[in-house]
Amino acid sequence: MQKRTHLVGEAFLVAPETQVTLMGWVERQRDLGSLVFFRLRDRWGSLQVRVNESENPGAHAIARKLRAEFVVSVTGVIKLRPEDERKDEPGGDRELVPEGIEILGESKTPPFYITDETPSDDVLRMQYRYLDLRRPPMVRIMEIRHRAFFELRRYLDSLGFWEIETPILTKSTPEGARDYLVPSRIQPGKFYALPQSPQLLKQTLMIAGTDRYFQLSRCFRDEDLRADRQPEFTQLDLEMSFVTRDELFEVGEGSMAHIFKETLGVEVKRPFPVYTYDEVMSRFGADKPDIRYGCEIHDFSDAFAKTEFRIFAKVLDAGGAVKGIFVPEVKPSRKEEDELDAFVRKRGGGGVALLRVQDGEPTGALAKFVDAERLESMREIAGETGDGTFMLMAGEPISLLPVLGQLRVHISEAFSVPKAEGFHFCWVVDFPLYEPDEETGEPVPMHHAFTSPLEEDIPLLESDPLKVRADSYDLVLNGVELGSGSLRVFEPELQRRILRNLGMTDDEITARFGFLLRAYEYGGPPHRGFALGLDRIIALMVGTSSIRDVIAFPKTTRAQCPLTGAPSDVSGDQLAELGLKTSDDD
Ligand code: AMO
Repeated sequence: MQKRTHLVGEAFLVAPETQVTLMGWVERQRDLGSLVFFRLRDRWGSLQVRVNESENPGAHAIARKLRAEFVVSVTGVIKLRPEDERKDEPGGDRELVPEGIEILGESKTPPFYITDETPSDDVLRMQYRYLDLRRPPMVRIMEIRHRAFFELRRYLDSLGFWEIETPILTKSTPEGARDYLVPSRIQPGKFYALPQSPQLLKQTLMIAGTDRYFQLSRCFRDEDLRADRQPEFTQLDLEMSFVTRDELFEVGEGSMAHIFKETLGVEVKRPFPVYTYDEVMSRFGADKPDIRYGCEIHDFSDAFAKTEFRIFAKVLDAGGAVKGIFVPEVKPSRKEEDELDAFVRKRGGGGVALLRVQDGEPTGALAKFVDAERLESMREIAGETGDGTFMLMAGEPISLLPVLGQLRVHISEAFSVPKAEGFHFCWVVDFPLYEPDEETGEPVPMHHAFTSPLEEDIPLLESDPLKVRADSYDLVLNGVELGSGSLRVFEPELQRRILRNLGMTDDEITARFGFLLRAYEYGGPPHRGFALGLDRIIALMVGTSSIRDVIAFPKTTRAQCPLTGAPSDVSGDQLAELGLKTSDDD
């Protein structure tokens, strides 16, 4: 094999007539008889190769044998293409005229071609991931991912953070999902848990005096998978001692601004707006608000005081509310109205009433209940004066909000509501410490059990736990939850109180978290931290809706790896060694 002299991308820049040896994959071979063309591709680009039988019969004979995805070494001279054949793309003005071609590896006909176009079969893409990753859009994604990770490390190092690895074989760290368990051979019947996050160990590092820790850490969660969830994913995990919330936000915002600038050349707008949980729930009906467009939720109860529209009157009399959104310019058809009604009913709403405004006048079924005065009052509440549609729901305020929040997102897509360009971050703060469990109604942590309550709410811990707010925060980008964090409980007794509220006995607390509580008995500093889902950020940066696209070897929604076939059977001997039996053995 010859020595490679240049990468294909570098050959775009050398002076014409330079002698080069390039290596890569063959694509688009065209056999025109005495003339054969193909493109030679590597990670850096692709270049046309022109082989003329009369100039080089040996190379021509080999070029005729080439097929898509053969691996070749081509030695020759870089020439400028005839002027009328030049393409306006990198390297499009030149071609390689070979003196010799060596086939380094042959390829079967690939199941899909290596082009910019994404193959439609996702499982096939994952099964032949090595081919999918050769496609230029995937090369770009992997490059952006690498660059972002590299720049995060550089940025955090400049602020005095240390990257410290925490174990993968560890004890359960609850983050609300099931654990992946690994049986111990040496201690049969005992299990390690793969970390759902490095939460407890990063807290331990603060007790150890590390002060500023980060890790690009792999987390494992056995949960139902979706486009934005994988069983293993990567977090930017960080923790800081002796800092205020604003100091932590400075690091979070600085990290984001740095990677957007260094990888995409994009300046993100700072500081990021900060909203309380209560505020976003009442304005957007969601704890991850998309602030790129309006259509915010308003309370129209006053505008419907003493209304003759019976459904609203009944709810208002019973102490309920009429809430809704105004969608400028949009006037849904009857069919669309039925679809919207079905949409909200499916999500637990009682239905939606539409009031269209056309040339300043209310129209539709609800119009007869809305005179000029009521319309004026509605417009004042919504802060809108143009034409469009009010979408209104009546009911218990607390239960209306999440449904209206989903309706807001739905109509923004269904009716293409214009959104501000670019990347719009915000912080959401002061989440409830607990939320009621869906089945039992008992308090479960909204973030995780190591989150500190707001100081003023600590007295409510036992008497009214669901009212307690946490010193916690989420980072949201364009309506996607990117990350969360909090002030941690650094007093062992407060930690015990929080865990007791989850129904744990003191013995259980000691068995599961005794190691952490003991550590805090030896001088735990106040500390807070944060973790960002890196796969989600990269997906937003490159504009894809699935985090699978930004992970080199992702899993399917059934948590399988079509490339390797994991998870797979293991031998009886392996099971026996671990002291395990599968239910099939019985
Ligand atoms: P949390 O559980 O909110 O917090 O996770 C932080 C972020 O990780 C991402 N994420 C996921 N990404 C892909 N697939 C998944 N299955 C998945 N689950 C979570 C999300 C999420 O916002 N230890 C705490 C943080 C802290 O308090 O410091 C934690 O892990 O983007």
